[in-house]
Amino acid sequence: MVLDTLLTENRACVVGVIDNRLSPGKKLLGVPVLGTDADVSRIISEFQVCGFVVGIGDNWRRGQLTQHLTQRFPKLTPFCTVHPRAWVSRFAELGPGTVVLPGAVVNAGTQVGPGCILNTQCSVDHDCRLGAFVSIGPHACLGGEVRVGDYSAICLGAHVIHAVSIGQATVVGAGAVVVKNLPDSVVAYGIPARPIRSRTVEEPYL
Ligand SMILES: CC(C)(COP(=O)(O)OP(=O)(O)OC[C@H]1O[C@@H](n2cnc3c(N)ncnc32)[C@H](O)[C@@H]1OP(=O)(O)O)[C@@H](O)C(=O)NCCC(=O)NCCS
Repeated sequence: MVLDTLLTENRACVVGVIDNRLSPGKKLLGVPVLGTDADVSRIISEFQVCGFVVGIGDNWRRGQLTQHLTQRFPKLTPFCTVHPRAWVSRFAELGPGTVVLPGAVVNAGTQVGPGCILNTQCSVDHDCRLGAFVSIGPHACLGGEVRVGDYSAICLGAHVIHAVSIGQATVVGAGAVVVKNLPDSVVAYGIPARPIRSRTVEEPYL
């Protein structure tokens, strides 16, 4: 989906895909697979790569890889890509490396941090603040002035009413309705959403 968005937006010259599970020489959506993590250095100099997008859904893993790449190759820039069928207000801000997928809406006054994923047809209303490496799932909906801390995930179809704050590294489960603030590092779900258990930031949730 990230690659499809990059290609459809057609703002960057996409030279290839780096993937540890796909064989070099194969193609993904018509784009050649150039190698694995072990080949990154060679690929960057061979193709004069100046930017990248990390296509990993898990917030912690996406953040770790982004930080590793920017520390190891300081001239590389995380690239922000917005699908032409998404709608981002000109009064909203998107951080570097953030991806906005088809049908997503980001309204005026909202600030989205670096490395976030705003998934298919999600809606982020006015004056929200999303931290770094946050994900908003398909059809999830944030009211105005909602805050979401770093690495938190608002999963498939969850709703968050206006002015609620969600801490860092918290996962709001599919279909939840959040009507009160949630702390850091919990899994919460249900209507109304309640913290069900604690979690660690690196714990997989997808
Ligand atoms: C919340 C979530 C992360 C799992 O949390 P978990 O603590 O690991 O939960 P488990 O899978 O162990 O399930 C524990 C119980 O909670 C229930 N449960 C899990 N997620 C739930 C949810 N979102 N709403 C209501 N109940 C839920 C399960 O049915 C199970 O109930 P049971 O004990 O009666 O069988 C996951 O269910 C979820 O909602 N993931 C969303 C993923 C997503 O959005 N993917 C799309 C990405 S594009």
